[in-house]
Amino acid sequence: MGKAFNTPIPQKPSSSVFSISKLAYVACFLGGLLLGCQQYNKFTQQQQESLQEVVKPVAQVDAWDTRRYYPEDFEKHFGLRLIHQLEVPDSLKKYVDAHDIRKDPTYSQNIELSEAYARVYGPFLDHVHDDDRRIYVKWAGPEKHFGVFADTYLPPNAFIAEYSGILTNSSFSTDYEWDYYSHDIVDDNGNVLKLGVDSQLVGNIARFVNHDDDPNCGIVYVPWRNRWRLVYVANKAIFPGEELSISYGPNYWESRSEVVKV
Ligand SMILES: *[C@@H]1O[C@H](CO)[C@@H](O)[C@H](O)[C@H]1NC(C)=O
Repeated sequence: MGKAFNTPIPQKPSSSVFSISKLAYVACFLGGLLLGCQQYNKFTQQQQESLQEVVKPVAQVDAWDTRRYYPEDFEKHFGLRLIHQLEVPDSLKKYVDAHDIRKDPTYSQNIELSEAYARVYGPFLDHVHDDDRRIYVKWAGPEKHFGVFADTYLPPNAFIAEYSGILTNSSFSTDYEWDYYSHDIVDDNGNVLKLGVDSQLVGNIARFVNHDDDPNCGIVYVPWRNRWRLVYVANKAIFPGEELSISYGPNYWESRSEVVKV
């Protein structure tokens, strides 16, 4: 029993900083910290990358095949001189001025409809707004090339745009010409004028509307101030993002052996 008294009282283990267990603990802690930092760095890097991916398409908006073109861009990008209304050159003016379009069969055989068109769409022709942002031009793919798209809801019968262009005689040489419905005007030499509205080099957004066999727009001949004014009108509801289309009609296709559209 006495032996017990000689046994030294157990001492607390040394509290030296350099003890093995402390070192191991610190090493583990630092290791963990390092690993954590690495993981965090990796995480933020991934975040950055995914953010860049989100941002990228926005940076591409200006590419020629994804951007939107508005009338003020037409001259620079398509070489088109912008006009908002029918232009009649001096060489033809005296003939169309002297002619009364109410004598044209299109008018005289559809008086009520013609008057209704004038009532509904005529005012638009007198109040041209050159900052119309309801529709825009965009690349429509390698087959159609450029087309016109809606940026807003367009109800049936909505006025889209006048098909503006230059009145020409005996042209029908371009893919951008509509017949003008006065077929009996005779010039001073006794030649019958073959009139059309041409927008190959001079015109507005209407000339970019593509053909479709089942179109969502129609062309209306509006008798207005003794001129036939060609107006594109929605013939069904058109929703944002939809492409506008028109049927060029059988005459259009028959008169053209090869169709090349810009
Ligand atoms: C209109 O075109 C015809 C050819 O079809 C021509 O004979 C005539 O001189 C032209 N008239 C005017 C006024 O340009």
